[in-house]
Amino acid sequence: MTDLNGPLFPLSFVCPDISSKLGPDYVLRPLQLSDYKAGVLEVLKDLTTVGDISEERFTEQFEYMRARQGEYFVIIIEKIATGNVVGVGTLLVERKFIHECGLVGHIEDIAVAKSEQGKKLGIKIIGALDFIGKKIGCYKNILDCSPHNEQFYVKCGYSNAGFEMVRLI
Ligand code: ACO
Repeated sequence: MTDLNGPLFPLSFVCPDISSKLGPDYVLRPLQLSDYKAGVLEVLKDLTTVGDISEERFTEQFEYMRARQGEYFVIIIEKIATGNVVGVGTLLVERKFIHECGLVGHIEDIAVAKSEQGKKLGIKIIGALDFIGKKIGCYKNILDCSPHNEQFYVKCGYSNAGFEMVRLI
């Protein structure tokens, strides 16, 4: 039977080096169903519109992702003192034909709670997602961001590789 509060992906994908650098006040771990109540959606509201998501819808989305092992990696930083989610980020793994059926990691939906920003949590989330990309065999990780965040990603080791194009549909 599926562990109802089990993690989204195996713990072996959690970078041990970054975990230990977080220190005793925080834990780095995969998303789990109880994060609905631990405030993951509140943290994402610092990034963009989230909407009114019921626990049932959250659970459905979580189960969809968990059924696709190797594709969805949503990583969490939890503040131990409160049990709240204070940081979140996603790596979505795309399978391609080019580059000998290569894999590309898409870094998505990075957010750190306002009260916790500036404490080097964001850079650790990106490092943790880069670790997963490397471990699963991606030949690169890519992301889109606003000019406002460019220097943050430069500090994470990323460089500007062109334009983002969008058409709302
Ligand atoms: N511009 C310039 N430098 C920045 C910025 C910025 N916007 N944000 C952080 N930095 C720098 C920090 O000063 C620090 O530099 P230092 O190492 O020289 O001291 C370094 O980047 C690392 O910063 P962290 O403390 O790890 O950043 P933080 O934990 O505050 O997280 C983040 C940064 C994720 C951008 C956070 O501010 C946030 O959640 N913002 C709101 C949501 C958002 O914009 N998310 C990114 C969307 S893009 C995407 O999802 C792909």
